[in-house]
Amino acid sequence: NQDKVCDLAIFGAQGDLALRKLFPSLFQLDKAGLLDAETRMIGLARDHVDQPGFKENVTEHLKKYIPADELDNEVLQRFCSRLQYIKLDFATEEGYDQLVATRAKVKHRLICYFATPASVYGPICENLSKHQLIDSKTRVVLEKPIGYDLASSCEINDQVAKYFDECQIYRIDHYLGKETVQNLIALRFANNLFGSQWDLNHIDHIEITVAEKVGIEGRWGYFDKAGQLRDMVQNHLLQLLCLIAMDPPSDLSADSIRDEKVKVLKALQPITPELLTTHVVRGQYGAGTIDGKPVPGYLEEENAKSSSSTESFVSLKVMINNWRWANVPFYLRTGKRMPEKLSQIIIHFKQQPHYIFAPEQRSIASNKLIIRLQPDEGISLQVMTKDQGLDKGMRLRAGPLQLSFSDTFHADRIPDAYERLLLELMKGNQYLFVRRDEVEYAWRWCDRIIQGWEDQNTRPQKYPAGSWGPVSSIAMITRDGRSWYEDSA
Ligand code: BG6
Repeated sequence: NQDKVCDLAIFGAQGDLALRKLFPSLFQLDKAGLLDAETRMIGLARDHVDQPGFKENVTEHLKKYIPADELDNEVLQRFCSRLQYIKLDFATEEGYDQLVATRAKVKHRLICYFATPASVYGPICENLSKHQLIDSKTRVVLEKPIGYDLASSCEINDQVAKYFDECQIYRIDHYLGKETVQNLIALRFANNLFGSQWDLNHIDHIEITVAEKVGIEGRWGYFDKAGQLRDMVQNHLLQLLCLIAMDPPSDLSADSIRDEKVKVLKALQPITPELLTTHVVRGQYGAGTIDGKPVPGYLEEENAKSSSSTESFVSLKVMINNWRWANVPFYLRTGKRMPEKLSQIIIHFKQQPHYIFAPEQRSIASNKLIIRLQPDEGISLQVMTKDQGLDKGMRLRAGPLQLSFSDTFHADRIPDAYERLLLELMKGNQYLFVRRDEVEYAWRWCDRIIQGWEDQNTRPQKYPAGSWGPVSSIAMITRDGRSWYEDSA
């Protein structure tokens, strides 16, 4: 237990991530009895707030983000007694002495969670080191985005690496903390039925969709410098792709899994300038309708500039150059202001080598494994059956074998990704965190696309909010004789 107790120092404790995600997740862990009695949370930020003011602010946000019936009063009191606040300037030395003083009488582990812009990761590390706050037990958590491209990412990673070994560094990709994303490992490697079919001989193509209904939500300043490729593909979508495409790891240790993921990243076919027009579609939403209500376009959002060539949508045809996946396309798409919030992976199996049913039915006659990551988490396998009825002959019908996680396992609530990540962090399990080489290979691949866009002066194509992206995204897949699942379902 001594190993689980810690001081969690949250840099940027008054910011959106800490208040919206970290404290509510820590509260849920406390409620579930998963925090050691002596674990403390030390909030660090620049604001002038006294102790009661900080606790009040955290409590207000807990009330906002946790349903009232889950906010147990006794737990709330216990949780607040773990909190303390230190006013600290990340980049100067102000405040670090107080962190030292708080730690004077304790021997347990310090975990530093950087919920701050990456530009201050280096200065914070330097100040922690100057104040002898780092030892071999200390852990550090880095939030995305780690950089803007390969060069800036290497620079940030180098700064942190001066003070911490890789085994002390926990890089967050919150998709890895999602229950259903972890389930990909169970699905693939605990079911021979799928494991034995998971390659070019049995799979025709794979789709990965991560669609959001929301727009830019007051983050225009950040988002316009990033765009959907950096914000979503470089991390979340490539992580999903890796988990789907990787070879079986020899065990479940962090490095076995991460070694396999890196092999996939290294095998990604580079998107050369010649492939840019056929393998990538870049979109930006215009005004449109979501759930029957009009919504503004990207350039009319709060704080938007009147022109921008940043993409809010991207779809890609990705090839993996290895023996398992040669010639099997992975179609990826992600965008803001899509018709629904939906993350799903669809494995399209190949058709039979010889087809004996009515030829006009051939197009529906292939198995599909639909892995629904959010919402309505579950798995559905589309199988072909005979249509019922005396007069139907041997007509086929596609029907689902369904596994809904909420109905089958009667889970009251699916834990937020951050609950899982914070718990594994405190336990010291790195398998849900991203290793430095993963981040860098992912940047290398994305940088090439971004460079291509710049060189060819590619501007995003408009799509109306509430649609599935520009028409050329549909053309990209229909050119190959296939279609996006929603369109064909
Ligand atoms: C974040 C992106 O990493 O993921 C956001 O910066 C995006 O732009 C979010 O909205 C999506 O996460 P989730 O868990 O809601 O699918």
